[in-house]
Amino acid sequence: MAEPFYITTAISYPNGRPHIGHAYEAIAADVIARFQRARGRDVRFQTGTDEHGLKMAQKARELGKTPRELADEMSGYFQEMCAGLNISHDRFIRTVEDEHHRASQAIWQAMQAKGDLYLDRYEGWYSVRDEAYYDESELVEGEGGEKLSPQGTPVEWTVEESWFFRLSAYQDKLLDLLKSPGFLEPESRRNEMIAFVSSGLRDLSISRTSFDWGVKVPGSENHVMYVWIDALTNYLTGLGYPDDTELYRKFWPANLHLIGKDIVRFHTIYWPAFLMSADVPVPQKVFGHGFLLNRGQKESKSLGNVTDPMALAEQFGVDVLRYFLLREVTFGQDGSYSPEAIVTKSNAELANSFGNLAQRTLSMIFKNMDGVLKADCAPDPADDALASQVNEAVTALQDRFEALDFSAGLEAWMRAVFACNQYVDEQAPWALRKSDPARMEAVLMTLFQQVRALAIAVLPVVPTAAAKLLDQMGVPAEERDYAALEDTDWFARLCVTGFTIGKPEGVFPRLELPEGEGT
Ligand code: MF3
Repeated sequence: MAEPFYITTAISYPNGRPHIGHAYEAIAADVIARFQRARGRDVRFQTGTDEHGLKMAQKARELGKTPRELADEMSGYFQEMCAGLNISHDRFIRTVEDEHHRASQAIWQAMQAKGDLYLDRYEGWYSVRDEAYYDESELVEGEGGEKLSPQGTPVEWTVEESWFFRLSAYQDKLLDLLKSPGFLEPESRRNEMIAFVSSGLRDLSISRTSFDWGVKVPGSENHVMYVWIDALTNYLTGLGYPDDTELYRKFWPANLHLIGKDIVRFHTIYWPAFLMSADVPVPQKVFGHGFLLNRGQKESKSLGNVTDPMALAEQFGVDVLRYFLLREVTFGQDGSYSPEAIVTKSNAELANSFGNLAQRTLSMIFKNMDGVLKADCAPDPADDALASQVNEAVTALQDRFEALDFSAGLEAWMRAVFACNQYVDEQAPWALRKSDPARMEAVLMTLFQQVRALAIAVLPVVPTAAAKLLDQMGVPAEERDYAALEDTDWFARLCVTGFTIGKPEGVFPRLELPEGEGT
């Protein structure tokens, strides 16, 4: 039985349309999901929208809508974004769903049954933008002397009756968890969390009475749950919690929560503490990715540099955007993008290197061999050398992707593409056409086989283009996973089918910068 793999993205506040950061996270998670499927894992991939809380309620009021109207409208844009970016999620969850309310109330009751909840009065700072409570000591001073959260967002003094969670009781267990290798990556985020927990944890306010847009607290109908309690629970709802479902048994604990670096505290301190309290196993790994900067700057409405990710995808192509983001940005660190950088990278690596290699190979087979594939060419050490270089690169790509080090994985892949192009130049099959046709055929068949391996390897990143290429090569859809790369008979099998290559069509067009862009 295939080993299960459960991956989630953070669920987004639908208080506005999706921005490039949402697209980045969805794409990275999708690459991981497709990669794990190609590795033979039984993958479940969940994303969605986080629709409750004060931030949503305030935004709706500002727009003269009900929170539900705002949520319905905006959640639709997030679903469209996923469809447009070729995201292969199994479940898009909305926290307004009835079953989600039920799951949130169930985890609440489990924490209550443990004796970890009590009613008291909250007096302290709250940031609506972050939907987070902050201790006085964490605040920073703004330009006009006003108090700001450590993220730079406004805070307001809040006093109300509230349910509390005994977070302080979990300090030691959380320290052990944070110190356990692999739980929180990248490593650099760990020290900060360890320091936060070591400095002493205060109990957490987990309900509000001043507004009602949220999940009702069981038995305290004038309270709604703090939005993060309900938000985090989405990861369980999607598997059928609190019922003992097949999905839950198979996929919990999650293998990976992929999130942005700004919400690591919620996922590696609050969330595991809630789970420990409710006697639910904690996730295996949380990875906090970096932020994407637009020419080195954070996007913001006031700077007027907010990019619609769908416009970028339309302009350059979905596969190009996906490749660029994973290749250019060291996963876990912040990265920068610009139209020029996307065009430059895509042209250099996809169009001129891999695309050109595939196109040259297929068109020479089409023109010089009538598209016919030959299984019984004479072996040559140069061909074997290339095959083992490609093989090594494809293995390296898998190792690096397994470690979530996408840029290094794609760099290894790119080195193999260069090796193939160098082989073409050295072997010069066009010159062999007259002088040694049998050798020309052997060279083209070697290239055909290596192009297939490279296309399969990169399929999770550029699913549409690589599939289109493999279609043209006659590679059956069910022979495109990583196990197929170990199959030594595939080529002989393909040859006997009598498959011939038609006039090839390039799958990675050369891009030009649109007028007026760039410098
Ligand atoms: N909506 C939150 C944000 O955008 C993320 C919630 S992720 C969760 O910061 F699943 F944990 F809730």
